[in-house]
Amino acid sequence: MVSVKDLVGTMDGKISREIFVDKDLYEREKERVFARAWLYVGHESQVKKPGDFFVSRMGEESVILTRDNAGKIRVFLNTCRHRGMRVCRYDQGNTKAFYCPYHGWSYGLDGKLTHVQAYEASYTPPFPKDEWALVEVPKLANLQGTIWANWDSAAPTFEDYLGDALAGLDSGLRAWDGSDHGVELLGPPQKWIVPSNWKFVSENFSGDVLHGVSHRSVEMVGIGPGASKSRRDSPGERILTTFPGGHGFYYGVMPIDQPRSDYAAAPAVAAYFQDCWQRRVQRMGPSAGVMPTLGTVFPNMSFHAQQPRTILVSHPRGPNETEMWRVYFVDKAAPPEVRTWLRRYYMRYSGPGGLTEQDDMENWTYASEASRGTIARRHAYNYMSGLNTGGVSDPVIPGMVTREPLTSEQNPRMLYRRWAEFMDAESWSALQP
Ligand code: FES
Ligand SMILES: [Fe+2]
Repeated sequence: MVSVKDLVGTMDGKISREIFVDKDLYEREKERVFARAWLYVGHESQVKKPGDFFVSRMGEESVILTRDNAGKIRVFLNTCRHRGMRVCRYDQGNTKAFYCPYHGWSYGLDGKLTHVQAYEASYTPPFPKDEWALVEVPKLANLQGTIWANWDSAAPTFEDYLGDALAGLDSGLRAWDGSDHGVELLGPPQKWIVPSNWKFVSENFSGDVLHGVSHRSVEMVGIGPGASKSRRDSPGERILTTFPGGHGFYYGVMPIDQPRSDYAAAPAVAAYFQDCWQRRVQRMGPSAGVMPTLGTVFPNMSFHAQQPRTILVSHPRGPNETEMWRVYFVDKAAPPEVRTWLRRYYMRYSGPGGLTEQDDMENWTYASEASRGTIARRHAYNYMSGLNTGGVSDPVIPGMVTREPLTSEQNPRMLYRRWAEFMDAESWSALQP
């Protein structure tokens, strides 16, 4: 078995194109990355009541996020134990049970097998039903309402998996939460397919600072929330943070007496966000101005933390195809005009029709297509920017910190170093959290 470390030159900044196109490596990824890492599966606001469910994915596999009658959140593999049919064929909803339409087996919200056709008549002796429950994910975690799951019982806790990145993710998920009521989804997730390897997406949001040039036209058009020409809120002083767990964030630091955006085109919206900002400052003091603006949690969850405020999951569908799921958040207490205004902004910015997302997708798609070439794949990519500068530790911002001018590719390099560690390790015992 080829050592993946030989393909990922984090010391010389050369990374083989094979990691984006090779079928055998992709098969190994399914086993060693997606069956082992903590994966984002949904938000608790999607399963508020017992019986609520949301069909999500972990790697290529369909899973059901649900809440049982005791109020406990659970995640099950969406496959019948009899002959494999999906026990839930809908995207989301509410149910009393998961009923398999193939031969009629039924499962409770706690996953227990409750009904088998001709059970008394045909199974002699009857098999023990409690051994044929839905397959349940053994480890779950909840951070600010985001639900994470891990198939590997030997994996570290979610907190240890994130390490120093935990504080940043926690702060990012609460970025605009001025209402004290938490957040909920603004509409159902957007889902679409990109003909690209999933890692291009992860590295992009981990802190590929050099690709801002791609969005030049969107900046000039000015699709953003404020009155000035920009595609999103000004983050203030920009800072890159890198974590050994492969996570990479991009912070903004701004004085707390400076409004995040003036939103002058919509006074009611401006007043609402000013109030949110004041509440954040009251709650957090001077650290309110220090905010992750976007980032990637290894392997495939990325987020934007101010406006737009969204989570993107890049689900793998093969070495050359990724299913993108983007969910958008709004404070539960936000008034209707704020919701409408945010919905329009989110659509302008992100998702399959969003202008910024389209720029990125075009890059990933052509890069993936070109990398599959017989000749092209012999030539490594260049990740050398900032190779010898690295980051420094900071008393306030967690991780290894790099300040402006931001040109370093250290976050993508760290992501691939971690990816290579996962791919080469036989088990979690060979991996440091
Ligand atoms: S596959 Fe579900 S009952 Fe047969
Ligand atoms: Fe981008």
